Amino acid sequence: MKTILEAPINIHNRKVHNRVVFQPMEGCDGTENGGIGELTRRRYLRFAEGGAGVIWFEATAVSPEGRANPRQLYINDETVESFQYLVTEIKQTALDTCGFEPLIIVQLTHSGRFSKPNGTPEPIVAYRNSLWEKDKENQPYVIATDDYCKTIPEKYAKASKLALQAGFDGIDIKCCHGYLFNEFLSAKARDGIYGGSLENRTRLYFECIDAVKESVGDSMIVTTRLNACDCFPYSYGYGVDENNNIDLSETKIIIENLEKKGIELIDITLGNPYLIPHINRPCINSPEDGNMGLKRIYDVTKELKNSFPNVKIVSSGLSFPGENAMEYAEKLINENVCDFAGFGRMTFAYPMFYREYLENGKLNKGKVCLKCSKCTELMRNGTVSGCPIRDSETYMPYYNKYVLKK
Ligand SMILES: Cc1cc2nc3c(=O)[nH]c(=O)nc-3n(C[C@H](O)[C@H](O)[C@H](O)COP(=O)(O)O)c2cc1C
Repeated sequence: MKTILEAPINIHNRKVHNRVVFQPMEGCDGTENGGIGELTRRRYLRFAEGGAGVIWFEATAVSPEGRANPRQLYINDETVESFQYLVTEIKQTALDTCGFEPLIIVQLTHSGRFSKPNGTPEPIVAYRNSLWEKDKENQPYVIATDDYCKTIPEKYAKASKLALQAGFDGIDIKCCHGYLFNEFLSAKARDGIYGGSLENRTRLYFECIDAVKESVGDSMIVTTRLNACDCFPYSYGYGVDENNNIDLSETKIIIENLEKKGIELIDITLGNPYLIPHINRPCINSPEDGNMGLKRIYDVTKELKNSFPNVKIVSSGLSFPGENAMEYAEKLINENVCDFAGFGRMTFAYPMFYREYLENGKLNKGKVCLKCSKCTELMRNGTVSGCPIRDSETYMPYYNKYVLKK
């Protein structure tokens, strides 16, 4: 074994071949009804050859009104076959090229405040929030009523059954980046059974986890991508104290409860990619030095891993170190900050990065992610997302048309 990244690990009695996770990365390239599009297939077959132990499939909606854009994947009776076809292809491609099948986890989501099912904002919010709504006062905000919330666990249960049918190995109940369940974590001023106390603020999230577990039994890994903290100033968001310092006390109660529910794997992230993207994905041209962002993610993840040694933790934000990303990932695992190294933008730019690192002992400087976040720009400008620099033949035409010409 040349590197700690190659060390296999067990989750839920399943062998994962190595410590590399391809994080969920939305391509915004599904079909109108939420099925797999041509570019979706292309992305995942490139990922399949990359040798990662885990491919964490991107945000996939459980209901039409909760789609973040009209091309977001949406698993339903009509589209499940296209998912099944792709999952089979990913496994076969990985087997043929790398000699093993990766664990494939699908991230199920309701986009809440960031729902745009028809291309224009149709936010479904946990509560009104002047920080997030600044300059967007004219949007048609709909508060998710208690009655509406009660319908959501069933949607997750149904989507999970379909994901099982499609051949996924695990379900992620997404609770990060400002989407619906994450927003509920800060719904302190909301009345009723989903607001106020932490018990109420986690009710919907936990009910969905229970519903998913009941729906798929022991046949799938149930996991979650969780915001450790939102990093908004007090009293907005969660995970921050009155002096605007990160405060993980509520996060730890949440993880304690997740552990009691039998959750063995958690993907830790933070921040909000719409308002403070540099927190979640350290980048160049950002309000702070990207190394500060990297350090914040390191500190938060380490504190949580130390507090929950039996939970397997995935770390985020690992594309920023660029050509040194693999050495940085090894350091995190050696220092017991996390069990898995999660890569996002690097997978778009350089899907073969891990295999080339194993072969050559270093990454190719000319292929690594440049942390320019042009992939995010594509997404924000309403088109498909990928790397217009390193995968320019496919994505530069979109960048020219939707970003530069605009
Ligand atoms: C274009 C784009 C799409 C993303 N899509 C998702 C997603 O579907 N689900 C999610 O949890 N995070 C998503 N993320 C966040 C990434 O998974 C990752 O946490 C972030 O890019 C930071 O890691 P990195 O430095 O390795 O890129 C996305 C990020 C980008 C840039």
